[in-house]
Amino acid sequence: MADDYKPVHHKHDANAPDDYHVRGNFATKLGFILAAAGSAVGLGNIWRFPWLVGENGGSAFILVYLICIVIVGMPVMLAEFIIGRHTQTDQVSAYSEIRPGTPWCLNGLLGLVSGLLIMSFYAPVAGWVLAFGCKMGLGMFGEARGMDTEAMTVFFQDASGSIIGGTTEPIVWMLVIMVITGGIIAMGVEGGIERACKVLMPTLLGIMVLLLIRSLTLPGMSGGLAFLLKPDFSKISGMTILEAMSQAFFTLSLAMGAMMTYASYVRKEVNLSKMVVSVASIDTGIALLAGLIIFPAVFAFGMEPAAGPALIFHTLPVVFTQMPLGHVIGTAFFLLLTVAAITSTISLVEPIVTWFVDGLGIRRIYGTLAVVTLIVALAIPVTLSVSGDSGLFVLLVQGEDGVSRMPLFDVFDFLATKLAMPIGAIVICLFTAFGMKRAMVLKEAVGTEGTPGRAIYLWYWVCITLSPVLILLVLLQGLGVLG
Ligand code: PHE
Repeated sequence: MADDYKPVHHKHDANAPDDYHVRGNFATKLGFILAAAGSAVGLGNIWRFPWLVGENGGSAFILVYLICIVIVGMPVMLAEFIIGRHTQTDQVSAYSEIRPGTPWCLNGLLGLVSGLLIMSFYAPVAGWVLAFGCKMGLGMFGEARGMDTEAMTVFFQDASGSIIGGTTEPIVWMLVIMVITGGIIAMGVEGGIERACKVLMPTLLGIMVLLLIRSLTLPGMSGGLAFLLKPDFSKISGMTILEAMSQAFFTLSLAMGAMMTYASYVRKEVNLSKMVVSVASIDTGIALLAGLIIFPAVFAFGMEPAAGPALIFHTLPVVFTQMPLGHVIGTAFFLLLTVAAITSTISLVEPIVTWFVDGLGIRRIYGTLAVVTLIVALAIPVTLSVSGDSGLFVLLVQGEDGVSRMPLFDVFDFLATKLAMPIGAIVICLFTAFGMKRAMVLKEAVGTEGTPGRAIYLWYWVCITLSPVLILLVLLQGLGVLG
């Protein structure tokens, strides 16, 4: 974010030069891609995606997920970029600026709520990852090294059980994540972390490639490949399709203002449609890579693919321990994954803080404090809801096959990813169709130096017709409204 770049249009420029610096601006296209990809790539790719694939029958789920990325995820992302860059402000004000005095801005508020809900389960999981990194680094898993695979598997299941299932421990790790996130946001996102990410993220990718090689050379890994490559469509139901679509929104950081807010910092000449392709490709590539690492290992070690949110914590430490220099690589992996998670938590918290600053006129430091406190207050019961058998904060839900337990963790995940995100995405599509002028939308998609070609016209058509209709159908079908 260099000082030599002045935005073409910025509503805060004229009277508040300092505020311009508070909001910052991306100096280069690469800066923007890194920030947007930093938001997109995170626990969603490496923790959530494999867990959902494992629970929903493997490759058939992946296929549905990929279709969702292309026909709903990417179109919605471009629409968000357009709204963000056109208005250069926070997500609530953005709608009001284009359509003053209309209820469209409620979608901005919905995005803020989604962000809070997501953070309340994202922060504890980031804490688990950090805990694994620190404990591995301190040699606390050292005794696993002499064990045979079976004993080692049990060892790491117990270890993850005590990290995830404890009471004070996971809360403390979650607090560490919130303090780091809050600290970075209070100081402004500029410079430091952007520069750090340029080094750290390629390193994470490098480690993942090493892991891939180890995983694909494990004896007995072929069951995992079959699981990933042979689709079994009998596993696909209305709910799985909704699950895949929600994951597409989640992993691309859509429908909660992150991408809109980041795009509000982009120069006018940047071709947004190309940015969408880059960000979505990086994000999808990393998720698939995570799957290719985890499932061969799951099958080679005879583990359960449907282990849910604990999946990566059961499998990956076993893979690391069986590699030369495994504890060093494992430590680096979990710590880098923490960094990837923090570039996502920043993008979850920043839009809410931006709204406090731009929309409500609260000072950045107080806004940050208020938002962090609110998230911690939500995250504590969420953390406790999945810890051990305390039964705290667990709802009992009457279903077809008896009463099932639904921890607050799952309730918030459901509300945010399966309700708020699809609804938010539908409104973004409708806003593109009815809230903005077509010529403006097409022009903004390619930037001041481009001319909209056929692909952009096709995108526009998909975004205003196919995407919202599909999202609505999947939502209603998944919720059982369509029977
Ligand atoms: N996309 C992030 C991930 O995959 C999570 C996220 C969701 C970030 C929504 C911002 C907004 O981990």
